[in-house]
Amino acid sequence: MKSLRLRLLVWVLVPMLGALALSAWLSWRAAHDTASLQQDRRLLASAETMAEQLRWQNGGVVASTPLAALEMFASSAHDRVYFEVRDDAGDVLAGWPGLIPAAEQPGRGVEYSSLRFAGEPLRAVTLTRELRRRGRVLRVSVRVAEGRIGFERLLHALWFPTLLRETLLLAFALGLMLLGLTLELRPVLRLRRSVQRRAPDDLSAIASEELHRELRPIVDTLNGYAQRLTQQVTAQKRFVMDAAHQLRTPVALLNAQLDVLAHFRIGPDVAETLEAMRGCARRQRLLINQLLALFRAEAHDMRSSPAAPVDLMEAVRDSCAELALFADARSLELEVDAPEGSAMVMGHAPLLQSVVFNLLDNALRYTPEGGAVQVRVLQRDDFVELVVEDSGPGIEPRHREAVLERFNRGGSEDDAGFGLGLAIVREAVRACDGQLELGDGERLGGLRVVVRLRAALGGGGPGRKATQPGTAT
Ligand SMILES: Nc1ncnc2c1ncn2[C@@H]1O[C@H](COP(=O)(O)OP(=O)(O)OP(=O)(O)O)[C@@H](O)[C@H]1O
Ligand SMILES: [Mg+2]
Repeated sequence: MKSLRLRLLVWVLVPMLGALALSAWLSWRAAHDTASLQQDRRLLASAETMAEQLRWQNGGVVASTPLAALEMFASSAHDRVYFEVRDDAGDVLAGWPGLIPAAEQPGRGVEYSSLRFAGEPLRAVTLTRELRRRGRVLRVSVRVAEGRIGFERLLHALWFPTLLRETLLLAFALGLMLLGLTLELRPVLRLRRSVQRRAPDDLSAIASEELHRELRPIVDTLNGYAQRLTQQVTAQKRFVMDAAHQLRTPVALLNAQLDVLAHFRIGPDVAETLEAMRGCARRQRLLINQLLALFRAEAHDMRSSPAAPVDLMEAVRDSCAELALFADARSLELEVDAPEGSAMVMGHAPLLQSVVFNLLDNALRYTPEGGAVQVRVLQRDDFVELVVEDSGPGIEPRHREAVLERFNRGGSEDDAGFGLGLAIVREAVRACDGQLELGDGERLGGLRVVVRLRAALGGGGPGRKATQPGTAT
């Protein structure tokens, strides 16, 4: 059983049920004693009334049964009442013969017993008196017995209210316990929800202030562990980033040398091999650049370097200029619909550069020749939207989550990319505290990517909004 609430409940419920059982048994005993005492007193009073009526007559003892002796048993229970008066010679003077078994010797004084007579369980009292006359002593026993129905009813009437009261009290206490547990466990449940909602790579400290004193050390220990883990992960990331940096220079050199080699006069076989080598080297350079961009976005720590006002238009203009030739080569119409001046957003310039570049690069790369790509920058109330839309095939909704993962190419089998562009975009948008959305193009019908960024208030507003249609130049 893993639930803390259930375990606590069991720990409370089991002893409480034990206490209830003990208390019920004790109150039953008390009710039983009271009911017994009452019945025994009535039986004794009746037997004594009968015994008082014993008198000598014609040399023997006669017994008469006064009505009063039996009237005291009149009750709504309609219990049967039996009596027998018998002397020590075994002669029945009155009542039901056999109520006192023939073999039973007369006792002394008052004796109480439980017996069965005429198939009925009975409670009985036997009173033995010595009657003396002229030196003659006669011992006479008077036994009065009554059924148990009245006794049982009285026992029930005495015991049931107590049992009911105690059960209700237990239920009330349990209800209170449940309520208390629910209220007290709320901070823990809130903590669970906040941890569940975290991004998989979010190792920032968990707030423990509103937790109970007993739970804080656990969360503090976990925070310490997460901190050590973060340090280790950061060290690893730095190592990989350093390695990529180190690779950058030799790969750039290799590219330059291969470019130089291409200018020499060489035979067609060697030229073919050289071209393949140049292709490989170019891909290596692109991969290293993409990896570095990804590491930079991933390693970005919002706390140590908070977002600052950045001109989104600058990133748009730079990327358009960089990719203009590529768009031209593929006969694509590249339209920019944006404010004339600047569009200031909260973010980080290099990260926003890689967001715009990768989205534009994808749109130009995956849109078939002769298509169109549109970049829009829209100023909303307190945020700015960057919308990149194309007339290409788009991405099926079921693949949209997956293509944001590293090295996922959404089923593309060509070697045009590495599957890192959208992962870079996602990480960079996250580092700028923005939102990313992949959808269907409303205007051009292909993919529509929307990046929502906080507007930098007072950081230089957008200029007059103007549409700048134009093909890449
Ligand atoms: N505008 C788009 N239209 C259609 N498919 C797209 C578009 N953008 C991305 N995709 C699909 O999503 C996949 C992942 O894109 P992503 O930019 O992450 O990687 P890549 O372009 O393959 O490689 P890289 O960007 O690292 O060079 C692409 O391979 C492609 O299948
Ligand atoms: Mg890409």
